[in-house]
Amino acid sequence: MTRTVEIKNMSKRFGPTVALDNVSFEAHGGEILGLIGENGSGKSTATSIFAGMQRCDSGEMLFEGKAWSPVSMTDALNKGVGMIVQESGTVAGISVAENIFLGETKDFRKGLFIDRKRMIEEAQKALDGIGADHIRADAVTGTLDFQDRKLTEIAKVMVKAPRVLVVDETTTALSQKGRDIIYTIMNRMKEEGKTVIFISHDLDEIMEKCDRLTVLRDGKIIRTFEKNEFDPDAIRTSMIGREIEGSYYRADYGEETGKEIVLRAEGLCLGDQLKDLSFELHAGEILGVGGLSHCGMHTLGKVLFGAEKAEKGSFTVKGKAVRNEAEAMRLGIGYVAKDRDTESLCTEASIKDNIAVAGLDRFAVKNFLILPGKEKQYVNEQVQALSIKCRNADQYVSALSGGNKQKVAFGKWTGRRSEILILDCPTRGVDIGVKQAMYRLMDRIRKEGRSVLLISEELAELIGMSDRLLIMKDGRLEKEFKRDPELTEADVIRCMI
Ligand SMILES: Nc1ncnc2c1ncn2[C@@H]1O[C@H](COP(=O)(O)OP(=O)(O)OP(=O)(O)O)[C@@H](O)[C@H]1O
Ligand SMILES: [Mg+2]
Repeated sequence: MTRTVEIKNMSKRFGPTVALDNVSFEAHGGEILGLIGENGSGKSTATSIFAGMQRCDSGEMLFEGKAWSPVSMTDALNKGVGMIVQESGTVAGISVAENIFLGETKDFRKGLFIDRKRMIEEAQKALDGIGADHIRADAVTGTLDFQDRKLTEIAKVMVKAPRVLVVDETTTALSQKGRDIIYTIMNRMKEEGKTVIFISHDLDEIMEKCDRLTVLRDGKIIRTFEKNEFDPDAIRTSMIGREIEGSYYRADYGEETGKEIVLRAEGLCLGDQLKDLSFELHAGEILGVGGLSHCGMHTLGKVLFGAEKAEKGSFTVKGKAVRNEAEAMRLGIGYVAKDRDTESLCTEASIKDNIAVAGLDRFAVKNFLILPGKEKQYVNEQVQALSIKCRNADQYVSALSGGNKQKVAFGKWTGRRSEILILDCPTRGVDIGVKQAMYRLMDRIRKEGRSVLLISEELAELIGMSDRLLIMKDGRLEKEFKRDPELTEADVIRCMI
């Protein structure tokens, strides 16, 4: 057993926030070490310091037994430490190949020119090598969906054949195919005697994949569990410092939803993403939508919010046609996009501004005269309801941990009492306590007669929360399941593939 990663007495503050408080842990060659802890507990901070993205205030790091102080992420990667970050890590306006070789184009210099053909060939090899051969290296990155951009990042890291790989909360927003690509890479590295540090909020996933598990809470290391000590309750308790009570999902079965149709889609078509899709959403209903990666479900969310236009077909909300985002909002539709950083949030603005922008009609007179006291109260209610970990609501969203950003995106739309909430992967990257709070909020929305369209990659959450569950396949509606305690993930998967 060789110690490849050693972090000793590491501390890091951001102004008054203590992100890491004397943290020490190690990871070995030939193992997958899990890191788990609530949102804002310091997982990304600790690993990103090791991967060269930022510096610690004090402490010591060793890589393969030698002092380690990378000056940048590229420096770390070139020396053998790669990280797949939680946030989006690609540049939209350039090609996939340029992203993969960002800052490395000198390797493809031919005199004064860059040998683009060879760069694209090499990039394609990198993509094929991780099993993402459906992505074209010459495509413009911005035209790819969230998952394919993530896979591009993975290819970028893997071309450097790192000896330590950090995977930060990447899997929950990916489909099974995307996850399998990552798991294959992790297992291969482990077999080759290399080290993987894997961060996830999915306890089942992390217990299955990891050899050891280190728990962080409020910037401190609480405990490391060896494989034979893995026990979900013990891990949860050490994460949150108390026992978590109550069930996760809805417990009711056989409840009637409202009869009133609040949203009706008829014959929606858009390229290969939506093919003649028709369905209805009722008042007081949680309608789940699931499927494989390119089944079209994420596009559906965008279209229903008016952010993308269908080529054919129509949809109406309470009988009225919706043509753009402004109309959608006026008709009471809220939308939490899957890609929160580019579509749901303005990260270079405060929590307050992000939340308030959608709730204007809740505290402004005639929609323009803002009453600062009411605005503050409104924002603080959302911050508390979701326990957003921040100093105060004036803090920039960019300074929040990944899961806390997600809470802001969620609070922005749940706060304004939208009549219809379109949620695309809403619980991505949030810890179990917050997940539970989000599920309760969805349940409350339903009981108040409002409606939720829940688009998700998490089958357990779809089955646990939906009144009805639509499964999409290749842009079409493949099957509809009714809420049923007997319904299993296997039943659902069978009609997805
Ligand atoms: N750039 C920054 N500026 C200010 N505070 C920051 C910054 N980055 C992180 N923090 C704070 O440091 C703490 C630890 O954040 P970190 O991102 O490491 O948490 P995490 O465990 O990765 O959480 P999550 O599960 O939500 O991703 C949080 O309180 C966060 O708000
Ligand atoms: Mg994080």
